[in-house]
Amino acid sequence: MNQMSAVILAAGQGTRMHSKKPKVLHTLFHRPMVQWVMDAAKEAGAVRICVVVGHGAQEVREVFADRDVAFALQAEQKGTGHAVLMAKDFIDPKEDVLILCGDTPLLQGKTLAQLAEFHRTHGNDVTVVSAMAQDPAGYGRIIRDAAGKFVKSVEHKDATEAERMVKEINTGVYLFRAEALLSSLGQLKNDNAQGEYYLPDCLEIIQQAGGKADAMTAEHEEEFLGVNSRIQLAHAAKVMQQRTNNTLMEQGVTIVDPDHTYIDPGVSIGMDTVILPGTSLEGNTVIGEDCEIGPNCRFTNMTVGDRVVMQSVTALESFVGSDVKAGPFVYIRPGCHIGDHVKIGDFVELKNSNIGNGTKIPHLSYIGDTDAGERINFGCGSIMVNYDGQKKHRTTIGNDVFIGCNANLVAPVKIADGAYIAAGSTITRDVAEDVLAIARARQTEIPGWKERRFGKKETK
Ligand code: UD1
Ligand code: MG
Repeated sequence: MNQMSAVILAAGQGTRMHSKKPKVLHTLFHRPMVQWVMDAAKEAGAVRICVVVGHGAQEVREVFADRDVAFALQAEQKGTGHAVLMAKDFIDPKEDVLILCGDTPLLQGKTLAQLAEFHRTHGNDVTVVSAMAQDPAGYGRIIRDAAGKFVKSVEHKDATEAERMVKEINTGVYLFRAEALLSSLGQLKNDNAQGEYYLPDCLEIIQQAGGKADAMTAEHEEEFLGVNSRIQLAHAAKVMQQRTNNTLMEQGVTIVDPDHTYIDPGVSIGMDTVILPGTSLEGNTVIGEDCEIGPNCRFTNMTVGDRVVMQSVTALESFVGSDVKAGPFVYIRPGCHIGDHVKIGDFVELKNSNIGNGTKIPHLSYIGDTDAGERINFGCGSIMVNYDGQKKHRTTIGNDVFIGCNANLVAPVKIADGAYIAAGSTITRDVAEDVLAIARARQTEIPGWKERRFGKKETK
């Protein structure tokens, strides 16, 4: 079996986006369109990937600078065949080459894997993926003979009236034996309606040279939807949203209102978890079983245990254990590790902190750069004063500590196990085990002050 690589065509301008940004960098579900195509190719087993860039070439290169992907430049757009030709130094004659378009983000790895399987079992030199289109206008058409055998792919603008009646379209997805691709590219001509070098013409050229060309008909037309406008981008995102939500529901996740729930493909959610509306789950987020998430949660790259209940929580790049309750109006910033049975109430912000099992932070607190032990009670208005204007410092709090309301702990500072911090204290020195620390002015009362200040009270 030949090794497989992929060439992704992305040099076109994308005029209809009306954008300063190259079309293929527009995102849906937090990845640029062309990245979805790269990921599908990789999933299907492509070991090397080359993107043909043209319009906005520099910007596209920069976005993928740290990825293992090659680039070829097509300075002038002279057609899809010409675009592939620009990548000829990348193409290894011993490989099979997938040719894909950068603006078809709904393409799935499993479809490309089917293509590879079809291509190899039929011993083809080239296989194009076709689909039955409701409205084939504008697409290339797959022409077959009376016996149903593949003959050629003809562009809409070059097609005869009879050919335009054909509903089977060229989806723009191909797998070539590289050697056959390279030799046919050299023979392409641009004597057609658009004066372009058409990649689909390679199929006929390969057949004429005695090679085997065929079309594999794919099940779903929508997978090959090319995005040319922001309206089509929104449509593609809707399809992706439904696809992801349906998969999760089939796996045992309840999604109360799938239209208003935005889950990135790749997010994993355990059985019997309920996702409420207005929730957005992003990146490599993993959620356990029997949770209730939402309404209105946004998680990015979060790991969350079982039986967690959260509403109106924004949580980023952090770990949350099991049986945790949080919200409403909680902000968990990156770098937090929250244990089991933790309660985080309204208007609490956490950052880069460890929170031990059973600790409670019920209201209006800022816990930043803190290592907090188990079973701590943070009173309302607990503030970890972590920043001196130049540097961040850590606060360390032992187990079973009780922090009264409106306490400031000025870092760096350590509170030992079992200590009590009196309400309203501003703690600037370490606190020993099991003591009560009071750091506030003592209350004084001045008898007779009111009368001296305002005179004797009138009696009726
Ligand atoms: C192409 C196919 C058509 C097929 C359709 C499927 C050709 C000639 N036609 O038509 O049979 O039905 O896709 O969507 O191939 N590109 C370049 N450089 C170029 C021209 C195009 O990189 O010089 C890129 C575009 O950025 C795009 C892709 O190739 O990603 C397809 O080009 P496009 O102009 O959209 O081709 P279609 O006319 O849609
Ligand atoms: Mg197109």
